[in-house]
Amino acid sequence: MRTRNRLKITWRRPLPEEQLETVEKMTSFFDYIENFIHERAQDLRDDYTSDLLKIRAEDESNLSLNEVVSIDYSLSFAGHETAANLILNGLRQFLTRPGLWEELREDPSLIPNAVEETLRRDTSVVAWRRSTTRPVEIAGVEVPKDARLMLLLASANRDESVFEDPDEFDVRRENAGKHLAFSHGIHFCLGAPLARLEARVAFELLTQRLPDLRLSPPDQTFEFDPNMSFRGPKELWAGWTPGGG
Ligand code: HEM
Repeated sequence: MRTRNRLKITWRRPLPEEQLETVEKMTSFFDYIENFIHERAQDLRDDYTSDLLKIRAEDESNLSLNEVVSIDYSLSFAGHETAANLILNGLRQFLTRPGLWEELREDPSLIPNAVEETLRRDTSVVAWRRSTTRPVEIAGVEVPKDARLMLLLASANRDESVFEDPDEFDVRRENAGKHLAFSHGIHFCLGAPLARLEARVAFELLTQRLPDLRLSPPDQTFEFDPNMSFRGPKELWAGWTPGGG
């Protein structure tokens, strides 16, 4: 019987059996998206997938069905898991620091910078792939054309030449927004404004509606999926007083 914990991918090439298990999971998710799109094609609604299908219906050369599936497939985790993890990573920071939740509740104008500081100190995409299109020199290191690179964005976000006390979490940090959580350049994250908005709205609503939100149990430890890029606690348990605070 397979267990969730059997698949432990770390910084190495996955073993053949690990690759097989990963592929099975990815293809079953791909099948799920494909079925979803076939269902939507029969029942168009006011949503993004239906818009893509309408563009295709106008002229099939605009988008192939496979491209629609592929866009939905990529956006479902590029846009969902990352943003959900941003909210969880933020909550973990806010609730493990005595008094911080109350500060954010009393002064919601701190929240946009608290989102930036979460993206900097505890980003949800810690590493991402790039390849070189021409030879370059990076910090004195010659990198040839077609080199495959793994950019350690989380490490850049704690660059001590840019951020003072980089390991500290400080919602008032003046240059918190100078992080590379959404990368840089031509592939800069398409969903950055949406992710920022989602997190800001979530934190504004949670601080106002659940003013005494707290970790429950208070001394819980957090586990993270063994994933090379996406990072957020698997679970975060919190409690509040209904109607109170
Ligand atoms: C906290 C949330 C998020 C983080 C940390 C994040 C991070 C990133 C990173 C590091 C990249 C790679 C850029 C590169 O190749 O250099 C990226 C690309 C991308 N992201 Fe996000 N992302 C987030 C949320 C979202 C959301 C909400 C969406 C869409 C709804 C989204 C859609 C995309 C897309 C489509 C790309 C590819 C852009 C391209 O290659 O031109 N992301 N994101």
